[in-house]
Amino acid sequence: MESSVLGFGCASLGSRISRKTGLRSLEQAYEAGVTWYDVAPPYGAGEAEPILGEFLKGRRDRVRICTKVGLTPPERNGVMRLAYAVARPLVGHIKGLRQRFRSMPSTRYQKAALDAGTIMASIDRSLSRLKTDHVDVFALHDPAEADVVSDEILRVLETILSSGKARHLSVGGTLAACRAAVGPNLPFGVVQFADDPRLSALAEIQAAAARPVATITHSVFGVAGAHERLVARLRSEPAAARRLEAAGYGGGAETAAAALLLDRAFASNASGVVLASMFSERNLRFNLDRASRPPAPASIGLVRDLIGGDVSDTSLPA
Ligand SMILES: NC(=O)c1ccc[n+]([C@@H]2O[C@H](COP(=O)([O-])OP(=O)(O)OC[C@H]3O[C@@H](n4cnc5c(N)ncnc54)[C@H](OP(=O)(O)O)[C@@H]3O)[C@@H](O)[C@H]2O)c1
Repeated sequence: MESSVLGFGCASLGSRISRKTGLRSLEQAYEAGVTWYDVAPPYGAGEAEPILGEFLKGRRDRVRICTKVGLTPPERNGVMRLAYAVARPLVGHIKGLRQRFRSMPSTRYQKAALDAGTIMASIDRSLSRLKTDHVDVFALHDPAEADVVSDEILRVLETILSSGKARHLSVGGTLAACRAAVGPNLPFGVVQFADDPRLSALAEIQAAAARPVATITHSVFGVAGAHERLVARLRSEPAAARRLEAAGYGGGAETAAAALLLDRAFASNASGVVLASMFSERNLRFNLDRASRPPAPASIGLVRDLIGGDVSDTSLPA
């Protein structure tokens, strides 16, 4: 699969981000060369797939789409949609409102039963909402390790593949599930996970893989509070900030931290795709600029030194 190295994550499309703003951001990204779009049925309180479907009109053959099965929109979704519509103009102004929204039980995705009927019905609904006859990648979303090797699930996934509804199969979830997915005799050609800079997840997955697999990494800024922790360190330790500046990461703590984390994400996943949410035009331009630069392998060690730590496997965001 040919793709841009930077992919667009649509988790907030239709919830935090309105349809109108979302469509404008997707179009700006597309015009700038982004060809990978990641979505799932619960994203955007259930609105992301239909909005992405609108965007795809006339462009379908020129972009790659990944959708998933395994999570559904939050309970009381109608109420949440209304709440998002009211809160949207405030989210940018009231600090912490977004985190409050995210941490409310009523905004959490629900687990769907992963059985043959649910999976087949889910891809059919996704294709209808996306207004396309196939997706490039179809992923099990946050599955248990046992789901990844379940005969019933593998059989229905093979049917989806052979019917042409999906070109490739994937697992998007915990490192444990991704590790299971790259095992021998399984049909998954793509794995997707949050690349926590405190772990060596990519190297570990690639070493464990029984065949070549494409790697999609996400949540560069969100994962384990990496951006916030790096900014805090740079603000409290002038020597750390000076070290980054000498390595070419200037412009203040926030900018230096964002540039370094992105460089690390691109350098560590050099042959895959790095997903980012980038509905703000500033973030989109910034991320495109970093994606267009030559790989910066030194960024991997710098991030490890600054926010590295000895942590065990994490439970990753869905
Ligand atoms: N299990 C899975 O397969 C799975 C799990 C989680 C996520 N994902 C996918 O990965 C995508 C990205 O994940 P995410 O949204 O958790 O994390 P993210 O891309 O790290 O985004 C988190 C926040 O960082 C902001 N941001 C983007 N570029 C920035 C920059 N240069 N400087 C500072 N902040 C910046 C974004 O803002 P704006 O959007 O406002 O510009 C967003 O609010 C999701 O949308 C989803 O498609 C997949």
